[in-house]
Amino acid sequence: MELIETIAAFGKTLDAERLAGRRVGLVPTMGYLHEGHAALVRQAAAECDVVAVTIFVNPLQFAAGEDLSSYPRDLDGDRRTAEAAGAEYLFVPEVTEMYPGEVHTTVSVAGESDGLEGASRPSHFAGVATVVAKLFNIAGPSRAYFGEKDWQQLQVVRRMVDDLSFPIEVVGCPIVRDGDGVALSSRNVYLSTTERAAAPVLRRALMAGRDALSNGRSPADAAALMAELISAEPLAQLDYAEVVGDRLLVAARFGTTRLIDNMGADR
Ligand code: PAF
Repeated sequence: MELIETIAAFGKTLDAERLAGRRVGLVPTMGYLHEGHAALVRQAAAECDVVAVTIFVNPLQFAAGEDLSSYPRDLDGDRRTAEAAGAEYLFVPEVTEMYPGEVHTTVSVAGESDGLEGASRPSHFAGVATVVAKLFNIAGPSRAYFGEKDWQQLQVVRRMVDDLSFPIEVVGCPIVRDGDGVALSSRNVYLSTTERAAAPVLRRALMAGRDALSNGRSPADAAALMAELISAEPLAQLDYAEVVGDRLLVAARFGTTRLIDNMGADR
């Protein structure tokens, strides 16, 4: 696997791959790769001819006071994980490479960015959409892979791709969970032992909400039940519990760590 640090080199390398007739699969990440990321890379490797993983902790998607400066990093571990999962290229630009000056052009996706995460993190999805658009333009992938854990992000990216006619297929991949049901996230590393022990409440709440829906309860009832279960966990501070279409979504803080999770109503 080749490590690339500049936009010019990354673009040129993938131009050559496309010229040789190879379909590029892109897996955008912020690093500190876990089994959920590895699953994205494996799926990309199975469906594309060449896979590029990007690692960039994107300042544009963090608000003041969020965890930009403490976001976990482990480039050596990430290299091993990406390579073992089947990546050919790892793009790891510095912030000054991606944003050499002030950013005057951003992409904002109205509607899909509203509510849920967008309510708690108002500038977050414009930051995500802007960096993903940039990565799409630099890499020119045929397909791009995103985890369903960030369900709303996936909807934002899909909408951006449709609205701006990016010739890219966006592939959403299922959430990967630890044995106790906690969705894998790079941020789980922030949790204390007791917070980590409390975190499975999110999935329990989602499952209870899903069961309530399948027993004929209303989305509002299912959402209230999820909120009640999460609020009953002393270490969890509920942010939201909602049913949107056929998706149940929750977010809560465990100490200073904010976790999100979601589940389809039919699974
Ligand atoms: O999901 C993430 O890791 C990030 O939001 C992404 C899509 C890589 C954009 O920075």
